[in-house]
Amino acid sequence: MRIILAGLALLVVIGGAALAWATRHPEIAALQAPPAAASAELIETGEVLAAVGDCAVCHTAPGGQPYAGGLAVETPFGTIHSTNITPDPATGIGAWSLDAFRRALHQGVSRNGQYLYPAFPYDHYTKVSDADVEALYAFLTSLDPVESAPKPNELRFPFNQRVLMAGWNLLFFKEGRYQPDPSRSEEWNRGAYLAEGLGHCGACHTPRNALGALEGDRHYDGATVEGWHAPALNEQSPSQVPWTADSLVNYFLDGWDQDHGIAAGPMTPVVNEMALLSEEDAYAVAEYVLSLQNQEDIEGRTTAAQTFAEARQFGSPETPATGPAPTGDPAYDAGLAIFSRVCANCHRAGTETAPLGALASINGPDPSNLLHVVVDGIVPPANSPTRTMPAFGGALSEAELVNLATFMRTHFSQQPAWTNIAERAREIQNRRDPVAGTEATGEAN
Ligand code: HEC
Ligand code: HEC
Ligand code: HEC
Repeated sequence: MRIILAGLALLVVIGGAALAWATRHPEIAALQAPPAAASAELIETGEVLAAVGDCAVCHTAPGGQPYAGGLAVETPFGTIHSTNITPDPATGIGAWSLDAFRRALHQGVSRNGQYLYPAFPYDHYTKVSDADVEALYAFLTSLDPVESAPKPNELRFPFNQRVLMAGWNLLFFKEGRYQPDPSRSEEWNRGAYLAEGLGHCGACHTPRNALGALEGDRHYDGATVEGWHAPALNEQSPSQVPWTADSLVNYFLDGWDQDHGIAAGPMTPVVNEMALLSEEDAYAVAEYVLSLQNQEDIEGRTTAAQTFAEARQFGSPETPATGPAPTGDPAYDAGLAIFSRVCANCHRAGTETAPLGALASINGPDPSNLLHVVVDGIVPPANSPTRTMPAFGGALSEAELVNLATFMRTHFSQQPAWTNIAERAREIQNRRDPVAGTEATGEAN
């Protein structure tokens, strides 16, 4: 009995200590007056940093005021609504001091002392320098205040208990500013700082464990995000033509490259924001990404991939729809017929589109990106406005999508067949966004 009582007492002590530790962050007092206006230069620096950090991408509701919050971020644990980060004192961050703002970015704790959820990528923003946090603060507090109260989150128990994030942080969160690697160039370190910190590239391109934390040993292995596949950015990159500094910068700033195609889906808003980067910073991010990838025999692999992709293109300007002969395989032949009828006119030799055979969306481990693009079409990045593609979700049945993807994987790629096309086609067709792109009729245009 005495042992049990002693054990209980110990538990109470440990539990109490844990709770005291978990709730140790005090509220930071509300500002009584707006902060002093910052210099125009600092505000401008902050604007570019906010773009690199995609703050507006998450803190803007569809059709809503920029930075006023209200976007529903879906997680496996329920829905989290982004908050209003305009300087409205009641509903935004108007009452936040620089210290409160810095604590949110560096530690994931709100002004009132409550834990924030890592749907807000503070596990990356913790790497941002104090000077850059100050510039971000200067920019956000220079915006016009918008009165808009954030919607309450809809998280399942126990995930709706913010105090649990103390444990999550203990397990998965490492606070600390970016530490330069002295064995690397200044440009590489600048790129790593931007990508690992504000750019939070790993938030989408690194897989997560069951508790939503990034898997440290699978850095940039590629991951599923919003039903899309964010391809590997390391030596597993599915892009057939090896990336170069120039092609990465084209992709970041224009959202398109001849050998890599378009930035679609959740990557579109990212490149729309990256377009604000100076060319110097864009090359720095490129240098960092390249250092993760296979740098062997760039020239040989480039020639091989381009030759293959060009050889698999349909026709020529004179014989546009000419493709391979049917093989007798019903799925392949049906897909070939659909491609010839509805796709070949825009995706063949002599057109402006990137040859399909080189692209990650055809050569990656997952058919989701191909299916998304076909079902919902493409609303292109701002700097490549002419590269639109109509949506075929209304014109093609689920079975037709399966045949089309089967044919495309076989004809345009040398990678093993996808095994989950039917499952992904059903899911993507069911969640079709009827307003994302212009609907196609299903006939060649
Ligand atoms: C991937 C989406 C995403 C991005 C990108 C993002 N945020 Fe957030 N942010 C959120 C979500 C979701 C919340 C609410 C989290 C919660 O309820 O715990 C949040 C909360 C915050 C808060 C706390 C506000 C409060 O009232 O407690 C601040 C401050 C903030 N974000 C600033 C920023 C800044 C600055 C950037 C850009 C550098 C940024 N966010 C980028 C999703 C994002
Ligand atoms: C919100 C999620 C998200 C974030 C943040 C994000 N990406 Fe992406 N990225 C994607 C998705 C999804 C794709 C696939 C797009 C497609 O198929 O067109 C992609 C594609 C890419 C590609 C093309 C890959 C290929 O082989 O074709 C590159 C390169 C890339 N991202 C780099 C980055 C870098 C660098 C960052 C950080 C500065 C970043 N991404 C941040 C989601 C994201
Ligand atoms: C009206 C012209 C048009 C038609 C028809 C069309 N596309 Fe596209 N498609 C485009 C454009 C433009 C892009 C953007 C990429 C580019 O320009 O290189 C694109 C991009 C794509 C991509 C993404 C490539 C990447 O960069 O990741 C795929 C996959 C694709 N199309 C498949 C299809 C399929 C399959 C069909 C038939 C069902 C089709 N397209 C019909 C114009 C078209």
